[in-house]
Amino acid sequence: MYLKSILLQGFRNLPDLSLTLHPRFSVLVGENAQGKTNIIEGIYLFSFGKSFRVPDYRDLIAWGQGQSFIRSWVHNDIGEEERQVRLTREKKTFYKNDKPVSPNQFLSIPMVLFSPEAILLLKESPQARRDYIDNFISKCLAPYGDRLKQYKRALAQRNKILKDEFLAEAEKEEQAKLWEKPMREHGIYLIEERKRWLERLNRRLVENYTQVAGAGKKAGFVYQPNVAPAEFEERQAACRSEEMEKGMSLVGPHRDDFQASLDDLPVKYFGSQGENRTFTLALKLAEISLFEETLGFSPVLLLDDVVSELDERRSEFFFSRLKSFSGQVFATATSLHLFPKSCLRECRSWQINQGHANPIYDSAGGQTGA
Ligand SMILES: Nc1ncnc2c1ncn2[C@@H]1O[C@H](COP(=O)(O)OP(=O)(O)OP(=O)(O)O)[C@@H](O)[C@H]1O
Ligand SMILES: [Mg+2]
Repeated sequence: MYLKSILLQGFRNLPDLSLTLHPRFSVLVGENAQGKTNIIEGIYLFSFGKSFRVPDYRDLIAWGQGQSFIRSWVHNDIGEEERQVRLTREKKTFYKNDKPVSPNQFLSIPMVLFSPEAILLLKESPQARRDYIDNFISKCLAPYGDRLKQYKRALAQRNKILKDEFLAEAEKEEQAKLWEKPMREHGIYLIEERKRWLERLNRRLVENYTQVAGAGKKAGFVYQPNVAPAEFEERQAACRSEEMEKGMSLVGPHRDDFQASLDDLPVKYFGSQGENRTFTLALKLAEISLFEETLGFSPVLLLDDVVSELDERRSEFFFSRLKSFSGQVFATATSLHLFPKSCLRECRSWQINQGHANPIYDSAGGQTGA
């Protein structure tokens, strides 16, 4: 599965940018603040449906404009498909072949992002880590996304009741109880799948970390479930009165977390900068191999500014892995020369300048422009 082309209109500083992409390497080069990361952010929307830099999608719409339009032709095993994302001040809508579809139907292209922001995953709120893991599992296991949606619906309904100031206590309790069973039913599924996929991810993470760091610390992305399936019902009953007081549900996988650790100590508190970076790199590489094994094809890699992020040892490890990677890669850098020659053998590249793209190199046709 790969993106054949991308069109971004009224998106960030890109007024109207259209690229015919290479199935292997597409490289965006340019000086600072020209729009390279904005293009990566636009491509990221096709997998995650949101930005990796801003919480509010409205910030992606070009300043002073009312809407953004992002389109891609996607090549998959059954042929080609047109996908669009339209952003207006009111809503964000996804389309497949011109028909509006739900996010679950749309966000099926697996992508892995390497960027200076990716390191924040270890430090940000638990929500960011849950979203990351949920997105990963949804792409590997078709029913997961739907079960997650149903769980979130039951949770939202229950929270609405818990917050309702006009309901009498007894009635509030009765109504809140009605949503506890569906929360357990879908919640236990989520907890068990998170546990199972985390175990698989961790096996690869440990190996990668040892190889990149070359040292003996044991890495783990440790699942910290809020509740064990066997105790779910009992905890719901025990916490109900506190939940009625606080106006929110306190028990369930919506309060799970995942902790990055080295030798059982949290990386975000005790890890050095280098350890945080190495951990993120090892985790992302683990994600790639698990995607490949599960799906039978490679995810799309988004490498934003990775060359400047990696020291010599990490860079060597990373590019040696990239050599055997057969999927599509998008990369940004300030210069094409920062990439190893092996990556440029099958590549198309552009110079990005104030939101516009000029072709500079095409491996099929050699030098094409400036
Ligand atoms: N909503 C928006 N509308 C218009 N311009 C925007 C919007 N959001 C951001 N920009 C502008 O886009 C410019 C380019 O940003 P981008 O992050 O893509 O740069 P870059 O080429 O990746 O640079 P660097 O090499 O420094 O990472 C920024 O200078 C910013 O002012
Ligand atoms: Mg950038």
